[in-house]
Amino acid sequence: MHDLSVGILGTGMFLPPDLLTNHDLEKMVDTSDEWIVRRTGMKQRHILKEGIPSYTMGVEAAKLAIEDAGLTPMDIDLIIVTTEAPDFLSPSMACLIQRDIGAKNAAAFDMNAACTGFVYAVVAAKQFIKTGYYRYVLIVSNEGLSRITDYKNRNTCILFGDAAGAVVLGEVPGEYGIKESILYSYGDLGHNLTIPCCYISEEDKERRPSGMYRSVWQDGSEVFTFAVRAMTDSTKKVLEMAGKTPQDIDMIIPHQANIRIINGAAKRLKIDDDKVMAILDKTGNISSASIPVAVDIASREGRLKNGDSLVMVAFGGGLTCGAIYFIWGKNQRH
Ligand code: COA
Repeated sequence: MHDLSVGILGTGMFLPPDLLTNHDLEKMVDTSDEWIVRRTGMKQRHILKEGIPSYTMGVEAAKLAIEDAGLTPMDIDLIIVTTEAPDFLSPSMACLIQRDIGAKNAAAFDMNAACTGFVYAVVAAKQFIKTGYYRYVLIVSNEGLSRITDYKNRNTCILFGDAAGAVVLGEVPGEYGIKESILYSYGDLGHNLTIPCCYISEEDKERRPSGMYRSVWQDGSEVFTFAVRAMTDSTKKVLEMAGKTPQDIDMIIPHQANIRIINGAAKRLKIDDDKVMAILDKTGNISSASIPVAVDIASREGRLKNGDSLVMVAFGGGLTCGAIYFIWGKNQRH
């Protein structure tokens, strides 16, 4: 095993221009702007126009991330796409993006760990780079969630938006990059959040009275309780592995599912509000794209300085959760 450190070399994102605001949702279901803001912290979501394939968001995010890394598409060895709403089961989103950006030297596959997908993909990509098998890995978290959202169900339709976030990973000097990571799955809790695909059970049909069977259904309060505990425990664990405490870190970049989940975890960890990166008021829950989009915004706004320590932490369907302890060091390509 090569003794090298793996870090983020470049970031990019794409948010479709059309917005769905809380006031728009008031006209669609029995809800109110006041309820949505108080219970979730969300104000608007970006929605991809009908008729446009979702992977096109990932193409734009990928191009920006590769350019930001100072590379060309021909330099990319592997593309991993995380998604809960693929345009096709085959070809994979990764192959569609590989084709459109001209990454002719890259292998490509999709990966599904729901909202934890980005964290899982970073840990997977790290192994390919650390063993020397690949040099540059592009991760695209491509989430066209409006395509699997039932806009007749007020329990879910207020939450989700569309977006893609991308990063390029490669070798960085030893003081930067991924220091520790931890991944968990809890398949026994998977029934609390489902998106049927090629098999629809009677139970899944009953839970979707509008007849939109390929849509998200969740037990909101079960997922909420799991989320606060999972984010708190994964963050604590990954920092413990690194010999750090929550007070040592400069920023936490959590999955953006609900501001009350984020604040609940931050409070338990005794992390100050100004160290928490929250974007969900403008994006809603964009599943696995939450973290890479937040990282791209933090990076471009100059909120991340080389040497800053951060935790990226997510939870989601499966159920899954995971966390990464990381030292920011962009433009430090080895
Ligand atoms: N507008 C108005 N009222 C709504 C509503 C809406 N959009 N959605 C639900 N309600 C109602 C419920 O019907 C319920 O009414 P009742 O008491 O008469 O039955 C009431 O509000 C409270 O519902 P509850 O589910 O307890 O609300 P909550 O505070 O738990 O918030 C979620 C609901 C979905 C926002 C919250 O549970 C959540 O964020 N869960 C985690 C979901 C998540 O993160 N999923 C993605 C995983 S990656």
